Amino acid sequence: MKVLNISLWVSALWHGSLCAPSGPWDAFNYAPHSKIVSPHAIYRVEGNVTHAANLVAGGGATISGNGSWVTVDFDKEVGGLISWTFDAVSSTSAVSLSFTESPSFVRPYASDDSTYPEYTTTYDGVLNVPAPLSPGKWTQPAYALRGGFRYLTIVSTSDVSVTISNITCAISFMPHVDDLRAYTGYFYAADPNFPDKNFLTKLWYAGAYTVQTNTVALETGRQIPVVASPGWANNATLGVAGPIIVDGDMGIAVPTQFVSTNDLAPTRNALSTMFAAIDPVTGALPESGPPLSQTGSDTYHCWTLIGTYNYYLYSGDTAWLQNIWSNYTKAVAFLDSHVDSSGLFNVTGLRDWARLGGGGHNSEGNALYYKVLTNSASLATYLNETETAAGWARNASALKVKFNETFWVPSAGLYRDNDTTTLHPQDANSLAVIFNLTTPEQAASVSRGLQQNWNDLGPVAPELPDTISPFISGFELQAHFESGNDARAMDLLHREWGYMLYTNLSVQSTLLEGFTANGSLGGYNYDAAYTSHSHGWSSGPTSALTFYVAGLTVTSPQGRTWSVAPHLSGLSAAEGGFETPLGWYGAHWQLSDSTFSLRVETPSETTGAVRLPLFGKKVTVDGQTVQSGNATLDLVVAGGNHTVVVDL
Ligand SMILES: *[C@@H]1O[C@H](CO)[C@@H](O)[C@H](O)[C@H]1NC(C)=O
Ligand SMILES: *[C@@H]1O[C@H](CO)[C@@H](O)[C@H](O)[C@H]1NC(C)=O
Ligand SMILES: *[C@@H]1O[C@H](CO)[C@@H](O)[C@H](O)[C@H]1NC(C)=O
Ligand SMILES: *[C@@H]1O[C@H](CO)[C@@H](O)[C@H](O)[C@H]1NC(C)=O
Ligand SMILES: *[C@@H]1O[C@H](CO)[C@@H](O)[C@H](O)[C@H]1NC(C)=O
Ligand SMILES: *[C@@H]1O[C@H](CO)[C@@H](O)[C@H](O)[C@H]1NC(C)=O
Ligand SMILES: *[C@@H]1O[C@H](CO)[C@@H](O)[C@H](O)[C@H]1NC(C)=O
Ligand SMILES: *[C@@H]1O[C@H](CO)[C@@H](O)[C@H](O)[C@H]1NC(C)=O
Ligand SMILES: *[C@@H]1O[C@H](CO)[C@@H](O)[C@H](O)[C@H]1NC(C)=O
Ligand SMILES: *[C@@H]1O[C@H](CO)[C@@H](O)[C@H](O)[C@H]1NC(C)=O
Ligand SMILES: *[C@@H]1O[C@H](CO)[C@@H](O)[C@H](O)[C@H]1NC(C)=O
Ligand SMILES: *[C@@H]1O[C@H](CO)[C@@H](O)[C@H](O)[C@H]1NC(C)=O
Repeated sequence: MKVLNISLWVSALWHGSLCAPSGPWDAFNYAPHSKIVSPHAIYRVEGNVTHAANLVAGGGATISGNGSWVTVDFDKEVGGLISWTFDAVSSTSAVSLSFTESPSFVRPYASDDSTYPEYTTTYDGVLNVPAPLSPGKWTQPAYALRGGFRYLTIVSTSDVSVTISNITCAISFMPHVDDLRAYTGYFYAADPNFPDKNFLTKLWYAGAYTVQTNTVALETGRQIPVVASPGWANNATLGVAGPIIVDGDMGIAVPTQFVSTNDLAPTRNALSTMFAAIDPVTGALPESGPPLSQTGSDTYHCWTLIGTYNYYLYSGDTAWLQNIWSNYTKAVAFLDSHVDSSGLFNVTGLRDWARLGGGGHNSEGNALYYKVLTNSASLATYLNETETAAGWARNASALKVKFNETFWVPSAGLYRDNDTTTLHPQDANSLAVIFNLTTPEQAASVSRGLQQNWNDLGPVAPELPDTISPFISGFELQAHFESGNDARAMDLLHREWGYMLYTNLSVQSTLLEGFTANGSLGGYNYDAAYTSHSHGWSSGPTSALTFYVAGLTVTSPQGRTWSVAPHLSGLSAAEGGFETPLGWYGAHWQLSDSTFSLRVETPSETTGAVRLPLFGKKVTVDGQTVQSGNATLDLVVAGGNHTVVVDL
């Protein structure tokens, strides 16, 4: 029998303040300690560079001759403007800079691509600092900001030499926050079933940091139309207010933000931008904000509405909800108007996450529409719009029946992509489980069936051949947990995110947008240099680890009601927590041969439901026996601090 170290976990959990407790998990927080960061190591030197190692300590190095170069490594994904000091220059000294996330694209003649995906991989080129250089401090011009890179290559482009020192990068993301490490949430669990025992904790923080790097100042968007090659310009306006979240598909990035930093204003700004740009005639929302302002995506239309629900659930920001409500209802009506006589939504705005097909009576689109309807009924209820709520709830119930009739293929035990195909997509099957379109038996069958798509590195999406999508896999992950298949969920984490976080193709700190079935970077137009290494949509594990493994979720706005339902997942302990405007929520469980123990801390004016992960001989809450034997796994608990113990 293992002895529980109660004093240690009490100090970790019951800290009584509105920011995450400190503990061993802090060592895995990727966010920099300072907003000015320096190179961590020298990655490569070519040609004649003297004292290159000095660049790590702020000292100087001399790069001599045309084509000599040095690459510095910032240790992890960073983004911002480079500054340094030119210590010694001659009238003809000149340098260029190239930036890359992946070490695969460390090269003196081009950055990785951020402007446009072109198969040459060299669209962006380098940033030239032409002769004559002036001695003293130099700072990269603001328009030439690189939002994400890990490696910087500095090339001498003239016959003479140049000496530089004190290379720094002024972090540009999270412009509204001074202490990037001041998280309001945390997660910690040792994983005995992976080579790196700290994998789960690292992954949680990698997802959190990914979303931080996607949270940017309003005036730092990519210029559209894109600048001509070679070049880049990141000085366009991104929306109606900043800071703003980009690449943050609302179904994944908002929960990540909530459980880690609770920094939801950038999400509100992004959502406000979308509602302000609604088509006043049709009620269609754009797919993306300015300057891209893409339109014609029914699924992204749904995600914006789902993001609205998530934002309200976590923040309880009623004034904002009321402000956008008339446009929100127009956007729901847009979806309703696309339901035809079959009772299903006919998807005609085909832009999506890059998957093929997706039109007509498509199951992914209809699953999203169903989620919009159930969410909208809840939001209308919170706003006391009872009749509207009842109407949307009725539409949801009717759609649920049609969805099952049309898409469920009993012989496969999976849903099909549309009413004329036998393809069973990863997206709709995962979403059907987590949006409650299934019976428990169907959920179990879908979880099993999805595993047929797996290779060593994760699921190859049937609806996008040769591609492993960490965006859609984030939903699949939840579907395995939701259906009670914790071991399968952990297996998926190990394969897919285990690959992404440790492969030396990646930045090993933030999460890849996607990759091919064999683990290569793939890319739009076959440009592997364009694939993003920090995409909020890949951060699904961060909220899943909090919501399922630590087991803690909110079930009504601001967490007035909550739930704790740990998934043991082959672990012997896990803990985590987050804050809402009502206060701190924490959960910490430990499993030994004789006992399952759970500590929960929530604000006193709340109530919650505890679902125990296993039966035992006796259950006590705060020392009082509430159950002898295994009557039920479900307990209702008032807010405050509680200890639940199950004798096994
Ligand atoms: C480096 O220095 C050597 C010796 O002076 C010279 O031959 C070579 O061309 C230089 N390389 C570059 C890239 O300038
Ligand atoms: C962005 O920077 C480019 C290059 O300096 C410049 O031509 C352009 O006018 C700038 N755009 C804005 C909106 O500032
Ligand atoms: C440096 O080398 C490149 C490539 O060989 C060449 O195009 C360029 O003209 C050279 N620059 C100078 C200043 O000699
Ligand atoms: C190094 O650069 C930083 C950031 O630009 C600056 O604050 C600092 O004063 C510089 N240090 C020296 C010794 O120049
Ligand atoms: C609602 O939509 C209209 C266009 O129909 C737009 O002018 C207005 O700014 C939007 N309001 C909000 C709060 O987004
Ligand atoms: C129906 O699904 C198949 C398989 O995904 C796809 O090839 C086809 O294009 C879809 N139909 C429509 C109308 O999108
Ligand atoms: C969906 O609507 C489009 C455009 O009106 C139409 O061409 C298509 O046949 C419809 N699909 C279905 C399955 O009804
Ligand atoms: C809804 O009604 C309840 C009970 O009357 C009230 O407390 C609450 O403030 C109302 N909510 C809104 C958003 O008006
Ligand atoms: C799922 O749907 C069923 C029936 O449609 C409903 O009774 C149940 O409450 C739903 N579950 C959740 C968690 O919403
Ligand atoms: C879907 O239909 C199947 C029969 O094909 C049935 O067993 C199942 O209960 C239905 N699921 C739902 C959620 O209604
Ligand atoms: C629950 O208790 C009953 C009666 O004591 C026993 O038959 C059953 O196996 C127990 N179930 C579990 C899961 O422990
Ligand atoms: C829970 O415990 C913490 C730390 O001891 C304390 O600050 C907090 O007030 C307690 N919460 C409640 C609701 O009693």
